[in-house]
Amino acid sequence: MIHSVSMIRSIDLPADEAAHVDFHERLAAVGLAAMSDRLGIPELATTAERRRSEWTHDATRVCEAAIALDATGRAVGAWVVEVPVRENTDTAYVQVLDPPLVAVAEADALHAALLADALAAVRRHGRHVVFTHEVLTEVVGDPLSPLVLGQDGDRTLDEGAHFTVVDHPPAGSTIPVRSRSGTVSQSDRSVRRMTAAGFAPVQIERFSVLALMSPGGGGAAPPGSRVVSWVDGAPKEWAAQLADLYSVFEATVPTGGASFEPETWDVARLREAEATARASDVVRVVSAIAEGRRLLAFTLFEQTPGSPVVFQEHTVVRPEARGRGLAVAVKRANAAHLRAVSPDAETVCTWNAVENTAMIAVNTAAGFRPRAFSVLWELRLEG
Ligand SMILES: CC(C)(COP(=O)(O)OP(=O)(O)OC[C@H]1O[C@@H](n2cnc3c(N)ncnc32)[C@H](O)[C@@H]1OP(=O)(O)O)[C@@H](O)C(=O)NCCC(=O)NCCS
Repeated sequence: MIHSVSMIRSIDLPADEAAHVDFHERLAAVGLAAMSDRLGIPELATTAERRRSEWTHDATRVCEAAIALDATGRAVGAWVVEVPVRENTDTAYVQVLDPPLVAVAEADALHAALLADALAAVRRHGRHVVFTHEVLTEVVGDPLSPLVLGQDGDRTLDEGAHFTVVDHPPAGSTIPVRSRSGTVSQSDRSVRRMTAAGFAPVQIERFSVLALMSPGGGGAAPPGSRVVSWVDGAPKEWAAQLADLYSVFEATVPTGGASFEPETWDVARLREAEATARASDVVRVVSAIAEGRRLLAFTLFEQTPGSPVVFQEHTVVRPEARGRGLAVAVKRANAAHLRAVSPDAETVCTWNAVENTAMIAVNTAAGFRPRAFSVLWELRLEG
């Protein structure tokens, strides 16, 4: 079946609307099947409308994709390549979407073929540093803390957890990740696939989920400060401060030593990001903590109206204000704000680097439970 795979490519599509609609719908269907398999939450998959809109409106990257068809014309996999055009102009981000439609040996061959085809596109763009994420099925327990693994206190893994913890992997069977926080096991399928393709593991991330069942309390700002909240675009008075907080986030979020540079944000960039979200029918629910005219912290949820799934995006506290409970306060405030503005919201999803124990402590206190772990992989292409 795999030998007769053929590709349809976004760059080869004719200029008519119907061809683009059909391509994006097929790509979204493959993404949905892959996301349901890896994380069990179909809503995490990018919809056809959202991807198309982001490709059109996001001026910070150029994107392309290809869909693999078997001999019967059935879509069996896909890849998406994103090429940043402002910072990190030697890099590209690749996503291989391979739903479990074929037998294991064939699945490995299909994944390898999709990745190789995506890397050819990366080369065509003249990029040499490639990043991708893959979800683990086996997580090596040591040295991750019980808090990170969701096994602290009397807590055990949830039924919906999409991973198993390997406590005593055979000697020599693990590879340390570049961040120095954790190792990956060569018996994990994704690890075998990625190392075979020459990629190195950079950072392990925890994917966690919060059920928004309880009404929850609001978030009180510490004395001398106040909470400010809004939906969609930042009020003019806070735009410059918010852009600056994005730059602080970029400069201080743990990246595990991955070869990319932090982005610098200004108001123009913030307004572009807000406009892209609006054009893609994504609502931004924001809370921040202000001390006088200065914002000390902010946090952001993104939601497509009507979807039960909300994405916890950036959370940041200015370095000089950390350790005083501001992250907890601003997150509580935004959860209350979300409940007030979006009664549809049921589940919040978030990704955290496993070494970001401060953020994981905040999220655990808020009720987040680990659902899966993924790895950021990096490859340097020669030539
Ligand atoms: C993560 C971050 C938002 C935390 O902000 P903060 O205001 O210091 O957090 P808080 O003061 O509310 O502390 C939260 C909890 O983390 C704990 N904590 C703080 N630093 C810690 C550390 N280095 N290791 C372990 N726990 C830590 C605190 O003790 C507190 O737990 P407690 O309430 O049980 O005492 C802040 O460090 C930051 O902006 N980092 C850079 C951006 C980032 O990584 N964002 C998250 C990306 S997913």
